[in-house]
Parts: sequence; structure tokens; C-alpha cells
Amino acid sequence: MKNIGVLISGGGTNLQALIDKQGSVIKSGKIVCVCSNSAGAYGLERAKKAGIPTKVIRKNADCGGDTDEFNRRVCEYMKSMNVDVIVLAGFLAILGGELLKEYADRIVNIHPSLIPSFCGDGFYGLKVHEAALDYGVKVTGATAHLVNEITDGGRILLQKAVYIEDGDTPETLQRRVMEQAEWIILPQAVEMICAGKV
Ligand code: GAR
Repeated sequence: MKNIGVLISGGGTNLQALIDKQGSVIKSGKIVCVCSNSAGAYGLERAKKAGIPTKVIRKNADCGGDTDEFNRRVCEYMKSMNVDVIVLAGFLAILGGELLKEYADRIVNIHPSLIPSFCGDGFYGLKVHEAALDYGVKVTGATAHLVNEITDGGRILLQKAVYIEDGDTPETLQRRVMEQAEWIILPQAVEMICAGKV
């Protein structure tokens, strides 16, 4: 069994999908901690309800705005919890430095588009869906990929397509991409890594 550490920034619906799929889809790993870069993230409540230890590490308030220090602190926490595999589940800060080296090929991210469309710096959360609707694409989706030093540039593990519907808003599209793609492929990708299939 691998130890899974989850990083979040917000609502944590992807974290919830991971919690719910432990034992069924995720058979080779167990969530041992959840770390947020925002103290108000609702995902922290989801973790507490599931009995999972939580930690808040904020770049500005705790690390003086220093990116290297932030990465060092997150890495230190993950190591202290004996984490083998890190999952970015709606984590909206960019990771770098020591953490990427220490956990190379063992960090997975979920991105709410079909990479290489609508990804990279500045494309996160609702902005991704706004960009897809502005462009007028008819199909979007989600991508689970490994994390390296290039934003959304690591090896693709799984993708799932979602159709855009007439009258979609960024909010309705975000919800459908989560339901039909993210909550399905993220747990599958986590299992792939934990089972040594990546
Ligand atoms: C999700 O749609 C996730 O794909 C996206 O943020 C949302 C978080 O929702 N992540 C990114 O845009 C990363 N670049 P959640 O907190 O409910 O899981």
C-alpha cells in the first residue's frame, strides 16, 4: 500500500472523489494527509469528516511570499507523513524545486481541459472553461497528468472528453467536466501510480 498525500486549494470535490473511491478504484494506496494552501478551503472539512489529518501551509502568511520556502515546507510535511504519491486535487499554486525532485514521477494533477488546449500559466479553475466557451470548441474534458517543471506539461496518464451543450456557462460546464471526467479519471490515475503501472 502506498501512502497518498493530497494537496488542495478549494472546494475539494476531487478530494471527495478520491475519498469515496478508496477501496474500490484506489486499491493500492491510502490517503494519509490533506494539505491546503488556503485556510478557508472547504476540502479541509471533507478531510476532517473522513478522519484524515490536515495541514495548512500558506505561501504569503506562513512563508513570507517565498516560493522556495513554500515548496520546502510542503515537501517537509509530505515526507514527515511518509507520503509516497502526491495528488494535486484542485491545487492552484505552482510547485517547483525540491518537491518536484523528491517526488519526480510520483505527483499527479487533474486539469479541467483536454491538454494541450486551454492549459499552462493562468489557466485554472473557471478560467479554463471560460476560455473553452470563448473559443467555441464543441468538445472539452479533463486530463490527469504527471507534474514536472512545465505548468501542465508532464506526461499525460488519462483523458476523458465531455461535450459542450447549448447554453453552457463556465459554471455549468465546470460541473459537467467534473462529474463526467475529473471525478472518474483522477482516482484511476492515482491507482495507476500507486500500483506501479506508470
Ligand atoms: C477542478 O476543476 C480542477 O480540475 C481545477 O480546479 C477545480 C478544483 O475543484 N484545477 C485546475 O484548474 C488546475 N490547473 P475542487 O476543489 O472541487 O476539486
